[in-house]
Amino acid sequence: MTQRVFVTRKIPQKGLDLITDLFKVSVWPSEFPPNKGEIVEGGGDCEGIITLLSDPIDAELIARLPNLVVIAQYAVGYDNIDINEATRRGIMVTNTPGVLTETTADLTWSLIMASARRVVEADRYVREGRWNVAWGPELLLGSDIYGATLGVIGMGRIGQAVVRRAQGFNMQVLYHTRSHNEDIAKLESIVPAKSASLDKLLSESDIVSLHVPLNSQTHELIGRRELEIMKKGSILVNTSRGQVIDQDALFDALSSGHLGGAGLDVFREEPLPRDSPLLGLQNVVLLPHIGSASRQTRTTMAIMCAKNLISALHGEKPPNIVNPEVL
Ligand code: GLV
Ligand code: GLV
Repeated sequence: MTQRVFVTRKIPQKGLDLITDLFKVSVWPSEFPPNKGEIVEGGGDCEGIITLLSDPIDAELIARLPNLVVIAQYAVGYDNIDINEATRRGIMVTNTPGVLTETTADLTWSLIMASARRVVEADRYVREGRWNVAWGPELLLGSDIYGATLGVIGMGRIGQAVVRRAQGFNMQVLYHTRSHNEDIAKLESIVPAKSASLDKLLSESDIVSLHVPLNSQTHELIGRRELEIMKKGSILVNTSRGQVIDQDALFDALSSGHLGGAGLDVFREEPLPRDSPLLGLQNVVLLPHIGSASRQTRTTMAIMCAKNLISALHGEKPPNIVNPEVL
């Protein structure tokens, strides 16, 4: 019998094209994510499901998808999926690592530069008709990136790609990571990067960028104490997961002027609620979780995700399995 696949949102066509002839595929038609009931309705009998990070695939939902063989996540992060429960039930979980590394590092740098040089605020200034004096000696002053100290927390693929880009800006790099490896050692021979404790990194960096996955150890890793020890006027950039920062403490650190600015692509709650106090601050750049959002990368992710799904449903080991212990 043809296996069934439920796709929780329309992903780039090149990925869907790979699976439509092989399986009975149904794609959730709305641009809004399906809720749990709708996932069960659409995919209750499916063997494969393609999920997004906005789909909470928890134990209760997994129990309601009894035929499931594979959860193919269209993202590198998979904190929305209860991996232990999937593993317990023998369900493979896959993700899309590697292909979005450079794209996400690019966006991280967009946020670093936009925050340090107040690019978005300056654009608003022009658009709002407030540019009345031709050139201002003290107009919209930001801070230098060239020669500054960059602190990178989390040295997985994306953290390393961010560090590589720092070379062109003649930056000192401090990094904090749980697991040292050969790639990091190689990088240290190219970029002046040094391992540091979290506190040292926070207290000495001009710009701090977060590249850790969300888990119980990284939840609110950057809390009130950590924000307080950051340098006055420094900048915090987050393209990882919103819950890595205590967002209320961040609001306080930004509104008091202790932090010079922040560049955020991710939030505790997404979409960012319309009444979020962050919206009232000038010194924060807010993006709608677009780290991997280049046309090329999203297509590559769709193909990778489809290939993982196909392998799993054909009884093979998927190239990007997150829980290989199920096999
Ligand atoms: C995006 O946030 C991802 O995890 O791919
Ligand atoms: C993502 O690809 C990471 O491991 O940082």
